[in-house]
Amino acid sequence: PSSSAASDGCFIQCLRENIPSELIFTPGSSKSNFTGVLESTIRNSRFLANTTVRPICIVTVTDASHVQAAVRCGRTNGVHLRARSGGHDYEGLSYRSVRPETFAVVDLANLRTITIVTTADEPPTAWVDSGATVGELYYTVANKSSNNTLAFPAGVCTTLGVGGHFSGGGIGSMMRKHGLSVDNVVDAKLVDANGELLDRAAMGEDLFWAIRGGGGESFGIIVSWKVRLVRVPPKVTVFHITRTLEQGAVDVLTNWQHVAPTMPDDINMEVLVQGAPQGQQQQVAVFFQFLYLGTCDDILPTIVSCLPELNATKADCNEMTWLESTAFMNFGDTNTTQLLDRSTGPNFFKNKSDYVRRGIARSVWLEILTKWLAMNGSGIIILEPHGGFVGSVPTGATPYSHRSGVLYNIQYVASWSAGDDSSVAIDWVDSFYDFMGQYVTKSPREAYVNFRDLDIGQNTVVNDVSTFDSGKVWGEKYFGSNFERLATVKGKVDPTDYFRNEQSIPPLLQS
Ligand code: FDA
Repeated sequence: PSSSAASDGCFIQCLRENIPSELIFTPGSSKSNFTGVLESTIRNSRFLANTTVRPICIVTVTDASHVQAAVRCGRTNGVHLRARSGGHDYEGLSYRSVRPETFAVVDLANLRTITIVTTADEPPTAWVDSGATVGELYYTVANKSSNNTLAFPAGVCTTLGVGGHFSGGGIGSMMRKHGLSVDNVVDAKLVDANGELLDRAAMGEDLFWAIRGGGGESFGIIVSWKVRLVRVPPKVTVFHITRTLEQGAVDVLTNWQHVAPTMPDDINMEVLVQGAPQGQQQQVAVFFQFLYLGTCDDILPTIVSCLPELNATKADCNEMTWLESTAFMNFGDTNTTQLLDRSTGPNFFKNKSDYVRRGIARSVWLEILTKWLAMNGSGIIILEPHGGFVGSVPTGATPYSHRSGVLYNIQYVASWSAGDDSSVAIDWVDSFYDFMGQYVTKSPREAYVNFRDLDIGQNTVVNDVSTFDSGKVWGEKYFGSNFERLATVKGKVDPTDYFRNEQSIPPLLQS
């Protein structure tokens, strides 16, 4: 065998000596269901293709000591590891490599205990393992309180893995009131590049800062997070309103840009614009999904006076518990047991993101809705307002740099079905993104690390280390002025660049 095959063999042998063999999956073994485990959380079906560069092995850890053993075996035998929690990475970097590379996956899906800590005088907290989904977190937390008034701010899609989602920040429908997920993380347990298990006190404040939004993979494998829970009222209101072009969608959108980021912080006014590709019967529709932490009567007059073009009425209100609202916004009904369902259907997509700091003119919205979203291959765009708490946090407080002055972010979603030619949808999203460049933030053109997009830049590896200059190209888009600090932390905690992928933070070594 070649020397690399021999070291792969030694790596797997080392794993077997330290981790129960039923948790180790290799492609060759007839007894192990390698493909089933690999595909179990591939959220973007593009990467089911057999051209995808796959791991040499997957370890489905059930204890922090297994993560430590995998890191030590990997370091000794020159095998890199990729961590996977929920598998929702847009570019699949938790389980695939873009370039041919030997790596193994540490899959945390079975490490998912959630423990709620309530004491008489302190706000409640929870320890949540990285392999839990945000749906499981919402369900467990809310059901722990007598009238469903405990909650946590995180993303809308309930199958997101806590590990990757928190690593990149975590934006969601309570961020204007309570901030990102990472604004509420108070401690964490991480396995570093030496295989040591460190909590906040042991890792120090620089590393603790970096893991709260600096993106997955770069600094170690986070096993568990301690979060501060938040209180919500017993009743919240979800507005669902759809407007077409004839119903004045362009005017509503134009005014929405200024209203949504400046409204009281207990209302979040998310917008989804559904394209109507040529040849299909549907028309372009703008879907408004608002979450208000209170009753309909309390907020409706404010919406009517600030956004009169929308013509919102009491009939658009749906009152329910906060927990029910997390199901309702995701599935369209209030059955909360769906939050525990980790399965996802086939989904082929390519996403990109932007941030807007100056409102876009009405004439441009008209062009977007009548031209860009009516094109062949057009998908959807999602607009998430900032302001409120998320906008008040200083830019350097966490790696998420898109704070003061951001009106909203835009997510562009191109999708297609199995067997379709993906190039039509991908060409649409690429050319639409080029067009939008003139209306969004520039120098850098900001992007959100959790909406990972490899088109904005990828690391170059020289002498087995990702270079700072190659990382800077994409890193300043995700992190602005926080990028250099992230690279400095990386240089201290993982100077040989053991934890890496195509967009991991490169080490900046102090001379
Ligand atoms: P996955 O397991 O693929 O990991 C993502 C990255 O983090 C990879 O680089 C991986 O190596 C690394 N990683 C994973 N676990 C780690 C760990 N324990 N320690 C260190 N690194 C780790 N985002 C958002 O903010 N708000 C939202 O509402 C949504 N909505 C949404 C909907 C849908 C359908 C998708 C597919 C995605 C989103 N996202 C989102 C984006 C989401 O936050 C992002 O993809 C997260 O990285 C997903 O985390 P997972 O653990 O599921 O991914």
